[in-house]
Amino acid sequence: MAKKLDLKNTLTLEKILSKQGFGTRKLCRIMIINEEITVNGELCDDPDATFELEKLSFTVKGERWEYREKSYLMLHKPSDYECSHKTQHHPTIYSLLPHPLVVRDVQCIGRLDEDTTGLILISDDGQFIHRMSSPKYKVPKIYEVTCKHPVSDEQILHILKGVQLIDEDAPIAALSCERISENVIHMTLAEGKYHQVKRMVAAISNRVEALKRIQIGELKLPDDLKVREWKWLSEVDMLLLSVK
Ligand code: URA
Repeated sequence: MAKKLDLKNTLTLEKILSKQGFGTRKLCRIMIINEEITVNGELCDDPDATFELEKLSFTVKGERWEYREKSYLMLHKPSDYECSHKTQHHPTIYSLLPHPLVVRDVQCIGRLDEDTTGLILISDDGQFIHRMSSPKYKVPKIYEVTCKHPVSDEQILHILKGVQLIDEDAPIAALSCERISENVIHMTLAEGKYHQVKRMVAAISNRVEALKRIQIGELKLPDDLKVREWKWLSEVDMLLLSVK
């Protein structure tokens, strides 16, 4: 059973649950006393029992969790969801996540438009959010763009050479632009400007019919992550995202 330890990397069960987003300390205390929590496979009804945080796993009302100092996850964003906590017309993407993560105040990294689908990163680690979103690091993002009209070679060349967008000082070019089929291109961008893909495609006299983000850095949207589903980023995923 739990030992009373006096080590730095330990916390009481009540504090652990509260820090992980399961509610106020009082609420967590009540859940523990009500025998709703197991830790490392054993029931624990003592809110003041102390546990080492390293590799700590626990269940809350039967659902399994691991202690995580910070949260790093990816979501396959559906269409008709907004990347905001305070939405205007559609539900928020945060409603697709477990409530404790929302309590931890996770934020999405680089918003997608409400009608855009695909890969979105979410975290509560301010440094990570900054590193992934700062223009300084130019993390490439790849979009699958379905256009209204067939995409010509000239249009692709134009996107690669750079297009002038209203309110921008200089033309903006895609890092790469590859035709996948008559109307579909894969476009890699180093920036994340407002409606950037749609504005660039409009600037070449075409129009975006559907937009999906399929890759950030070296991290691809996994084939088995269905629309609306989320998953924790693995160590390998984090390496694929590391900025060179
Ligand atoms: N560019 C757009 O136009 N929309 C997005 O959602 C992302 C990139």
